[in-house]
Amino acid sequence: MLRARITGTGSAVPDKVLTNHDLEKLVDTNDEWITTRTGIKQRRIAAENEYTSTFATLAARRALEMANVSPEELDLIILGTVTPDFPFPATSCIIQKELGAHNAAAFDLSAACSGFIYGLNMAEAYIKSGMARKVLVMGAEVLTRIVDFADRNTCILFGDGAGAVVVEADSAEQGILSSHIFTNGTHWGLLYQPGCGGRNPATAANTFTDKLHYLRMEGNEVFKHAVRAMGDAAVAALEHNAVTADDVSLLIPHQANRRIIEATGKRVGIPEERIFVNLHKYGNTSSASIPLALDEANREGRLKSGDLVLLDAFGGGFTYGSVLLKW
Ligand code: ACO
Repeated sequence: MLRARITGTGSAVPDKVLTNHDLEKLVDTNDEWITTRTGIKQRRIAAENEYTSTFATLAARRALEMANVSPEELDLIILGTVTPDFPFPATSCIIQKELGAHNAAAFDLSAACSGFIYGLNMAEAYIKSGMARKVLVMGAEVLTRIVDFADRNTCILFGDGAGAVVVEADSAEQGILSSHIFTNGTHWGLLYQPGCGGRNPATAANTFTDKLHYLRMEGNEVFKHAVRAMGDAAVAALEHNAVTADDVSLLIPHQANRRIIEATGKRVGIPEERIFVNLHKYGNTSSASIPLALDEANREGRLKSGDLVLLDAFGGGFTYGSVLLKW
């Protein structure tokens, strides 16, 4: 049986660090509030001449190097992002050119913070059906471009960065055991960017005066849905594979808020020491958060051959999903 297996991981973040103390100078907030409510201590901020493609391309190069795969060998490039370089063409086309991946079809995928999990799900489907053999899946964002740094409810949460993996067809036992994706469109208005699309074009007179170009979020409501949905997605993975929480070596959840992560761990029955957390360094990087954490865990030697690794995401839409990997 063909399996989709991750053979290389990579990540990249901007050099510029914005700490909670830096934010104290911008809005009425403090390090103590941000730390206790979210677990975030700092985030990375892209420079003016750095874009989603900048970090995604770097992360992709690192993943390809680890996998020992050349760009020409890729059949497909999938980028999860809500902060593309341009509305069109797809940022993945720019990355394809930068990498020299001439033989790969490339497209972007809009599933907010679940973008990477949706991308892995597609890579698995393409590989299992025989339609592709080598797929590059990335999550990359410059979220700080659509964050209002005068709004303390949102500006403390988000950061920039990218993560990438190479997924290859393999006949070994290791690889993606299952991937589940879910959508609940009922609550799309709880987390979205109102402006710069077809409903409120960038050219509308009120785009800037009403701050329609910035993301909007009902934090409290999103929090409740995130806890429930991430728990459901994780349980779906365990039940599908007839394994228990005790069998999981590491849970790598979407890094949105430490309290959401802790609640998910409790619901699923995975203790803190088997949950990977790096949001104190990067904040919420949306679709980049899981591949960035996966790459760090991998390079820190936290993933051993044969380990069961559970990835679990939730994001705007709402979208959510999980992937169970045998490393
Ligand atoms: N500094 C100080 N005080 C603040 C700040 C701040 N940065 N932000 C809000 N407050 C105040 C509020 O004004 C409020 O004051 P009030 O009681 O006088 O009105 C008080 O703190 C409590 O505000 P809440 O919104 O109830 O605080 P809560 O505990 O819910 O924490 C937070 C807010 C951190 C946004 C939380 O709701 C959360 O993390 N939600 C999930 C957000 C998220 O993760 N979204 C992304 C998930 S999906 C994705 O990644 C796209």
